[in-house]
Amino acid sequence: MQTAIYPGSFDPVTLGHYDIIKRSSEIFDRVIVGVLRNSAKSPLFSVEERVKMLEDVTKGLPNVEVQSFHGLLIDFVRQNQARVIVRGLRAITDFEYELQLAQMNRVIAPEIDTVFLTTNLKYAYLSSSTAKEVAMYGGDTSAFLDPGVAEKVRNKYMAVNK
Ligand code: PNS
Repeated sequence: MQTAIYPGSFDPVTLGHYDIIKRSSEIFDRVIVGVLRNSAKSPLFSVEERVKMLEDVTKGLPNVEVQSFHGLLIDFVRQNQARVIVRGLRAITDFEYELQLAQMNRVIAPEIDTVFLTTNLKYAYLSSSTAKEVAMYGGDTSAFLDPGVAEKVRNKYMAVNK
């Protein structure tokens, strides 16, 4: 049984993230989406909100579960008896950071490998931050976010802007 961990901030989950989760679920027996709790960035959504949105979006994928984690990713991977980390690569600009992360993790835990999936070209430009920026100014996010997630982002900015 091969378990893979797909970690991230997911503030919020985008259609690009979903694409990686779905494809990972077709490759691995079990995929755990790991939502980082102690992010240095100040997130728009609480970790509980981010986990709930991911659970809603992935409810049609039976071998996917969502958990939050804090501390080192490697510890979370080991706690779940996994040996693979999945990350999405959008463009060459992601590569340097992703390589650094993967190499650091490999030094800390040589038994754990990072596997990169190239994102669907449809979502190559997409990030949570750009999707949030569109929503913040009242733009249409339907090409970037699941409808339920888009509504939560809209509501969040309505509350913030009040
Ligand atoms: O979606 P993101 O924000 O690019 O994800 C980054 C993430 C969560 C994968 C990374 O920040 C992480 O693994 N954080 C946990 C702390 C850790 O283990 N860092 C790596 C060693 S420097």
